[in-house]
Amino acid sequence: MSIIFSGIQPSGNLTLGNYLGALRNFSKVQEGNECYYCVVNQHAITVPQDPQLLHERTRALAAIYIASGLDPEKSILFVQSEVPEHVQLGWIMTTLAYVGELERMTQYKDKASKRGDSIPAGLLTYPPLMAADILLYQTNYVPVGDDQKQHMEITRDLAQRFNRLYGDVFTLPEILLGHDGTRVMSLQEPTKKMSKSDDNTTATIYLLDNPKDIEKKIKRAQTDSENSVHYDVIGKPGISNLIEILSALTDKTHDQVTEEYAGKGYGVFKKDVADAVVAALEPIQQRYNQLVNAPELDDILEKGAAKAHAKANATYEKAVHAMGL
Ligand code: ADP
Ligand code: NA
Repeated sequence: MSIIFSGIQPSGNLTLGNYLGALRNFSKVQEGNECYYCVVNQHAITVPQDPQLLHERTRALAAIYIASGLDPEKSILFVQSEVPEHVQLGWIMTTLAYVGELERMTQYKDKASKRGDSIPAGLLTYPPLMAADILLYQTNYVPVGDDQKQHMEITRDLAQRFNRLYGDVFTLPEILLGHDGTRVMSLQEPTKKMSKSDDNTTATIYLLDNPKDIEKKIKRAQTDSENSVHYDVIGKPGISNLIEILSALTDKTHDQVTEEYAGKGYGVFKKDVADAVVAALEPIQQRYNQLVNAPELDDILEKGAAKAHAKANATYEKAVHAMGL
C-alpha cells in the first residue's frame, strides 16, 4: 500500500490537459492505496480571483474529480483551505526555501513575467506551499503531469533539508507519470501547454465543452501544410499534439497512430481525434451534471476534510515538535 496525494487549482475550467496529464490517472491508483485528492484553492489565490467564481469553481472541480472516476469511498476528497495545516506547514517550508531556487522555477518566471512590477509574493512562495500539501500526508507518489517535474524536485529538496536539520519527519515523494507523461499542448500555439488559465478559449478543450465546440476547435487546430500524419514535435508540433491526444485516449503508441493514418489527410485524422475526445468526455459530463448541485457533494467534502485533517495534523505535530515550536 502506498500513500498518494495530488491537487488541482480551481483557477479556471478544467481542460483536456488536466484530464490526460493528471485526473484520469487519479482513479487508476485508488484501488489498494491511501489516496488524498485536494482542490488547492489557496494556490489559486496566488493570482487575483473573483470570490464568487472561485467558490463555484472549487465545487465544480470537486464534482469533476468524482465524474472522472474518483470514488469517495476509496479516495479522500477535500478542499485545501478546510485543512489549516497546509498553510501552517507551508510557512515552515517557506523558511527552508532559498529565494534563488524559487526565482529559478519556470512556472514562476512565466507567471511573474505577465505581472509587470506588481508580482504577488505568493507566486514566488507557491512551491513551499505545494511541498507542504504533499509532505503532510507522508506521500509516496504524486500523480501529476510532466510540467510539474520541477515542483516535485523542490518538494523533495525541502523534505530532505528539513530531515537533515531536524530529524527524519517526512517521506520523500516521487512523481507518478501516467501514459509516459502525456503533455497536451495549446491547439493554437502548440509549443505552449494547454492551460485552464489561457485566455484563448479556441486553443483549449474544456472538459465541459459540448461536442460541436470540440469538433470546431480541433478542426481549426493549428497544423502545417504537409498533410502527412507523423510525429515530429519540433517540425510538426500541431499534428504531434493531436497524435499525442489520440494515442493517450486510445492507449496506442505514436507509431501505431501514424501507421493507421498513413496516406490519409488531416481532415479524416482531425475528425477521428474529435470523435475520440467527445466519446471520452461524454460520461464525465453526465456524471458532473448530476453531482454539481447535489447536497451529496457537500457531505463528501466535509467527510474528506475530517479524514485529511487527522492525517495532516499528526504529521504537522511531529514537524513542529522536531523544530522546537
Ligand atoms: P493548469 O496549468 O491547467 O492551470 P494546474 O497547474 O492546476 O493546471 O495543474 C493541474 C494538473 O494538471 C497538474 O498535475 C498538471 O501537471 C496537469 N496538467 C496541466 N496542464 C497540462 C497539460 N497541458 N498536459 C498535461 N498535464 C497537464
Ligand atoms: Na496553473
